[in-house]
Amino acid sequence: MKYSSKELKIDGYKAKILVQKYSTPLYCYSFKKIKANIDNFKKNFKELNPLICFSVKSNSNKILLKEIGKMGLGADVVSIGELVRALKSGIRSNKIVFSGVGKTANEIHYAIKKKILLINTESKSEILEIEKIAKYQKKTVDIGIRLNPNIDAETLNQISTGKKENKFGVLEKSFINLVNYCKKSKYLNLKCLSVHIGSQILNIKPYQKMLSVLEKIIKKTKYHFEYIDLGGGMGIDYKNNNKELDLIKYSSLIKNFQIKNNSKIIFEPGRSIIGNSGFLISKIVYIKEGHKKDFIILDAAMNDLMRPALYKATHRIIPVHKKNNKTKKIYEFVGPICESTDKFLTIKNFQKLYEKDLIAICDVGAYGMSLSSNYNLRPKAMEILIKNSEIKIISKRQTLNDLI
Ligand code: LLP
Repeated sequence: MKYSSKELKIDGYKAKILVQKYSTPLYCYSFKKIKANIDNFKKNFKELNPLICFSVKSNSNKILLKEIGKMGLGADVVSIGELVRALKSGIRSNKIVFSGVGKTANEIHYAIKKKILLINTESKSEILEIEKIAKYQKKTVDIGIRLNPNIDAETLNQISTGKKENKFGVLEKSFINLVNYCKKSKYLNLKCLSVHIGSQILNIKPYQKMLSVLEKIIKKTKYHFEYIDLGGGMGIDYKNNNKELDLIKYSSLIKNFQIKNNSKIIFEPGRSIIGNSGFLISKIVYIKEGHKKDFIILDAAMNDLMRPALYKATHRIIPVHKKNNKTKKIYEFVGPICESTDKFLTIKNFQKLYEKDLIAICDVGAYGMSLSSNYNLRPKAMEILIKNSEIKIISKRQTLNDLI
């Protein structure tokens, strides 16, 4: 993304021209950025030679998954829907891990049939269910057990997953009991210890703590895990203030850990692969004077991008056509949905805006479209990908007919 002659350009294409062709609200992804993120991830963790499983929940677009798969990544899935989609996108089953606290018997049957790399289990009941199905299918199933390490990831509460009050994984005592149970089972092949403490983590310390908890527990189990799946969670620079997780430092901490444990490392990154590759371009429908601020009413809403309403997440907003005339007014960017939380950002000192102006909401590649809905019976936005100077429509705009 850059400005040339004050016009916002995404990989060489003027955002204004994209809108003339495809209308708004419009999700636009940069292939160049996705590739750079993947290259960067691989480079930073090179010493570990990890298996990188893209977290499909962050963005499940078929064409994007295909591209990501072609660059060698596997997939982290959490439902049969995501599993089928990952397979259909050409990701081989031996690079797919399946997480989630509530996998149904149907989902487990399918995962076993497809011989995926690992089913990462999250409870005793799930382990018993898998064992029952494995016995029925006369197969031995490769599984992991997700540990809840009781660590504060120092991120938003709503996306924290590794504290003892969270529903994810099992606590230390039950982890050790379950390892002992699996050791004796004919139908379960325990291969992996998995963990994921949260998302949008910017501080290395929680990861450091997590690794030392893992070390302690692995010793107690006296078990060799072929894989250690460290999940995802690597944070990105939403606020454009250069605060990013130090991946090189993280890699060297893991290297020390790996030397002692001699396990293959798995990562499940979502946001750090795709987050900053996406823009949501939107048009101003109306501007309304409010109490001490102006409401900039966009044609994009919380159904298109849920993160601000759901987590008070910050996404930068930038103009599609830059001007030098700053306003003293406070602008609140909102959507047309009938909810007070349908707002994106409040900004002071923005350039003066007019009705029909275009803006772009930044860093929406992860948990943007995948969290979108038809709330207020609004059709879903179109998604396009810019790759090697070509524009590809990667999902069509829903029509009213699709909905009504
Ligand atoms: N692995 C597991 C087991 C997970 O639960 C998640 C995310 C990931 C990997 C990928 O995490 P990432 O690298 O993308 O941070 N909707 C929220 C984020 C929820 C994350 C859920 N789990 C958001 O918009 O911030």
